Amino acid sequence: MQQHVSLLPYNTFGLPVIAEHFYAFHSVEDLRLALRQTPPPYLILGGGSNMLFTQNPQATVLKNEIGGMEVLRTFKNKVWVKVGGGVVWHDFVLWAVAQGFGGVENLSLIPGTVGAAPVQNIGAYGVELKDVMLRLEALDLTSGMIWNFDNEACHFGYRDSIFKREAKGRYCIVSVTFSLTIAQHRLALSYGDIQRTLAEHGAPNPPGIADISKAVVAIRSSKLPDPAKIGNCGSFFKNPETERAVLDRIRQNHPQAPAYELPDGRVKIPAGWLIEQCGWKGKRVGNTGCYEKQALVLVNYGGATGEEVKNLAHAIIASVQEKFGITLEPEVNIL
Ligand code: EPU
Repeated sequence: MQQHVSLLPYNTFGLPVIAEHFYAFHSVEDLRLALRQTPPPYLILGGGSNMLFTQNPQATVLKNEIGGMEVLRTFKNKVWVKVGGGVVWHDFVLWAVAQGFGGVENLSLIPGTVGAAPVQNIGAYGVELKDVMLRLEALDLTSGMIWNFDNEACHFGYRDSIFKREAKGRYCIVSVTFSLTIAQHRLALSYGDIQRTLAEHGAPNPPGIADISKAVVAIRSSKLPDPAKIGNCGSFFKNPETERAVLDRIRQNHPQAPAYELPDGRVKIPAGWLIEQCGWKGKRVGNTGCYEKQALVLVNYGGATGEEVKNLAHAIIASVQEKFGITLEPEVNIL
């Protein structure tokens, strides 16, 4: 166990908070040892890419560094791959693509770790973690026992799972097993940006999974700030899902308002658009701001506190509420 550790390198917002008790664990046994040697409560940290610290954590910080990527079973068209919870997500994606395993190429360059990915069911460009996850192993922080959760047991939703709700704070995800394709890949190409970038790159038709991964890396790099340069946590808010009538009302004044139809008849409205319409895009407030290329991303230009970022988020929520009658919900965990 280490004491009085700065979490600056461990959170992508780049906030200089201090953990009084800190333990980086490298295996399940090591985690059990950490639970015996350190005081509760516990905060499990992956890549720190979805957390806004507004104060020093009032918990022992356990940093997941369980590694390993292992092929468990190979079938005719698919493969099951077990990955340690501490593996960096993009390293896993690059490895899968290099092996010719399909399914996660659209999720290239998402910050964070494999163990954190199921918590918010990460997603991008038409694919979500739930589409490729077979099962996961989670260690109960109270008993030290390992529980298996299959895909259904995780109660996945849009940026949501049981680990953000009923099971919040109870487990540490120590491994995730994916079902990936080795032939007849199911390519997700519906997202307009992907088609355009593949064409710009001169990719073959149909493209390979490596072409898609490269296209996604190019799109993300052009829109989203690199956390190593400008502190951020990707999308700060979720895209709100509303009744169709709300969109109809908005379109009376804004006929071009973008929206996606949901299977249940409701609609999802891009929060980035709502925020941009309220005049926040590219606006700087002290050391924080709303990113100039993607209004859904809040940034730390250097020296910001978590409290400042939270205040900016509240100001944005209030103005979207006032102008459109829609309450934005943070996607990021505010601690
Ligand atoms: N838009 C604007 N102004 C902006 C940003 C967006 O008007 O400043 C509108 C545009 O109409 C644009 C639409 O919003 O066409 C969608 O924008 P974008 O494709 O950038 O995606 P997003 O809805 O803002 C979501 C995810 C991202 C994911 C992308 C691509 C959420 C909360 N965010 O963003 O995920 O990469 O789609 O699939 O669902 C993340 O979760 O951290 C994240 C980056």
